[in-house]
Amino acid sequence: MSSDSAAVPDPPRLLRDWQYYLREQLRIVSDQPEQEARWLLAAALGRDTAALVRDGLTPISSGERARIASLLAHRRAGVPLAYCLGEWSFYGMALQVAPDVLIPRPDTEVLVTCTLEGLPERARVLDLGTGSGAIALAIAVARPHAEIWAVERSPAALRIARMNGVTRAPQVSWLQGDWYAPLDADLRFDRIVANPPYLREDDSHLPDLRHEPREALVAGPSGLECLGHIIAGASSHLLPQGVLLLEHGADQGAAVRTLFDGAGFSAVQTRHDLAGRARVTLGVGA
Ligand SMILES: C[S@@+](CC[C@H](N)C(=O)[O-])C[C@H]1O[C@@H](n2cnc3c(N)ncnc32)[C@H](O)[C@@H]1O
Repeated sequence: MSSDSAAVPDPPRLLRDWQYYLREQLRIVSDQPEQEARWLLAAALGRDTAALVRDGLTPISSGERARIASLLAHRRAGVPLAYCLGEWSFYGMALQVAPDVLIPRPDTEVLVTCTLEGLPERARVLDLGTGSGAIALAIAVARPHAEIWAVERSPAALRIARMNGVTRAPQVSWLQGDWYAPLDADLRFDRIVANPPYLREDDSHLPDLRHEPREALVAGPSGLECLGHIIAGASSHLLPQGVLLLEHGADQGAAVRTLFDGAGFSAVQTRHDLAGRARVTLGVGA
């Protein structure tokens, strides 16, 4: 089959031809149009990508055509691929996502890896601002005997997190509310972990992130508001020798270390991602 889009009928009839058609249509929004075409087509048809090859000569029904056209229109309008597909990969899991939750980022896998270092099998872990449940679930899958709590302010996001947890981690306790507020006063944790909102209100990246929930991204005028609140409250919720681990912006490492020091944490250090950017700061509670 030629890769020339002019040779493809519009709209195509066979599944195989839709792949070429979508690839050409996606070039304006994607730098990997071939991959995206396969993923979108598989999602619209409810099949896996292997079936696209196997069933290439199958005609597409009018209902299927409508679903493909709708996904394509969303994607061409700039909706992130993850929202179009309805799921996204994080730490080896395919998590359900929707515009109510931040799309889990590879950067956050650094935070999970740091949290798992030396984490006992039966540790008690708190994930604040769980969103899709990505961090809590990655830890729960790696430490099936750990007790995990996950807090989220947005009820819509928490519904998605619960759904993601149903089969892979029924042991996670999902709580709705504001940071530490929904926790029993006497609960103490070995690890508190969070990827809170940390962008400033005027961050220049916000227009590119317009499809994701603003309350998942923006902390306030300085960008440090949520990080500061979580750091200030952590020691009352940590067990002795318990550790707080926070993801933050690449340019916030020094400011976050100062907040940890000010709250009496010891052994404060910042970890970097593979590109050498400061992404996670951690410390042992006071
Ligand atoms: C940057 S997102 C992180 C989502 C997820 N943990 C991840 O890493 O993909 C921050 C999350 O914190 C939640 N959040 C914001 N303010 C909150 C608050 N006051 N209490 C609890 N959760 C909050 C947002 O709704 C959002 O889901």
